[in-house]
Amino acid sequence: MQRTKVIDLLRLTPTGQTVKAMGWVRTFRNTQFISLNDGSTILNIQAVVELNSQPEEILRRITTGACIAVEGELIPSPAKGQTVEIKVKGLEILGDCDAEKYPLQPKKHSLEFLREIAHLRSRTNTFGAVMRIRHAMAFAIHQFFNERGFVYMHTPIITGSDAEGAGAMFRVTTLDLNNPPRDEQGHISHKDDFFGKETNLTVSGQLEGETYALALGEIYTFGPTFRAENSNTTRHLAEFWMIEPEMAFYDLNDNMRLATDLLQYLVRYALTHCKDDLEFLDKRAAEEEASKPQDQRSELGLLQRLQFVTENEFQRLSYTEAIDILRNSNPNKKKKFQYLVEEWGVDLQSEHERYLVEKHFKKPVILYDYPAAIKAFYMRQNEDGKTVRAMDVLFPGIGEIIGGSQREERYDKLLKRVQELNLPEKDLWWYLELRKFGSAPHSGFGLGFERLMLFVTGMTNIRDVIPFPRFPGNAEF
Ligand code: 4AD
Ligand code: MG
Repeated sequence: MQRTKVIDLLRLTPTGQTVKAMGWVRTFRNTQFISLNDGSTILNIQAVVELNSQPEEILRRITTGACIAVEGELIPSPAKGQTVEIKVKGLEILGDCDAEKYPLQPKKHSLEFLREIAHLRSRTNTFGAVMRIRHAMAFAIHQFFNERGFVYMHTPIITGSDAEGAGAMFRVTTLDLNNPPRDEQGHISHKDDFFGKETNLTVSGQLEGETYALALGEIYTFGPTFRAENSNTTRHLAEFWMIEPEMAFYDLNDNMRLATDLLQYLVRYALTHCKDDLEFLDKRAAEEEASKPQDQRSELGLLQRLQFVTENEFQRLSYTEAIDILRNSNPNKKKKFQYLVEEWGVDLQSEHERYLVEKHFKKPVILYDYPAAIKAFYMRQNEDGKTVRAMDVLFPGIGEIIGGSQREERYDKLLKRVQELNLPEKDLWWYLELRKFGSAPHSGFGLGFERLMLFVTGMTNIRDVIPFPRFPGNAEF
């Protein structure tokens, strides 16, 4: 008999039809009530075994974690919180589970513990919910751009240029590391390496993305990105996914508009399409909050935070205005910030970003026109000779969720910047040529997919919103 997914079973009107479900046992109470989950929804279906209707040796093997198939009549459920249940006629064990050794017991486990068993944490309610939402967000991203006529570009993962300067890179090589060829100066020579030059894993698809924006108009990339920084924080991964739209004929204001529309669209999509999972995560987050000291609790619950973002315009603010606010802020005057804000030109730390968003404006903030010195070489230079047309979107609980800019489309200005910063002009020849042959004003940004996931799910550690996190000292699984 054909199996029906639990999500579909729960939507059926019971008319005594025979159905079959397959899934993993969450609990088995009183050798009678099986709670079964198949991952199609956070909800379980209850399968009820009538007394003495099934062989003892089968019932003994129905333990938490076991994989089973149940066949039976779909009937209205007298139990609270579910409309239907299965009156079991046939039971089959698909995969036994040694209950003594199974690390997932029917109780709450810490996220730290679950990270050590990333191959099994997928079976928990929390990770089921998070990963279904992750899927929904990926799908909605493609839908958003497709509706607007953007072309999805696959930019390379192995790259020969370290032009972005976004962070330390992971080397890609087939050289014998025990005995690498060396040049006259004793440096490792990549002439005989696979690509005949030094190559790395990409830190961003932007530069390649720009080449196609200046041909197809509006494009986006959505792919894995690698940064070898040693940042052991709750917001950094060594391997993460980034969405990078790049648009010809957009100035910085158009860029801000698109970033706002995208984020609001995604949050709205989650609210309409991921209700059950979000309700579960909302309760989960509320429990976490309740265990914190009063003054550290956030004012809004998860669902309220999501709702809030869809309903409020983001605050736009120049870097210079932000510095003024921060310099005069209480935590700065009382020396509560770890990094005190004194002079114009300092890079903002996440404590500053979060102050602006969570305390001062109490809504998402788009900061723009940063000092050139703290931003990448490709950002469009302003007339003041000091700032560039950069923008960062800052979110509550997260800080920077998006970084982007209008790009420098003027050849001479870009070349001058490349030279000032001593960037390898020979690697950037093609990027510079875009400005020689039919250059156009253009803009783009990068949205960190896992940072978005943190916001949408209310999870607090980025290692818990990607199936198998990569971070310093960890590449297990
Ligand atoms: O601000 P970033 O470094 O910008 C760029 O890479 C540009 N090339 C983007 C562009 O304009 N096309 O990174 C963009 C976003 C950040 O705002 C953050 O959300 C995320 O990527 N991000 C990370 N997410 C997880 N772990 C890390 N180590 C991250 N580094 C950046
Ligand atoms: Mg950034």
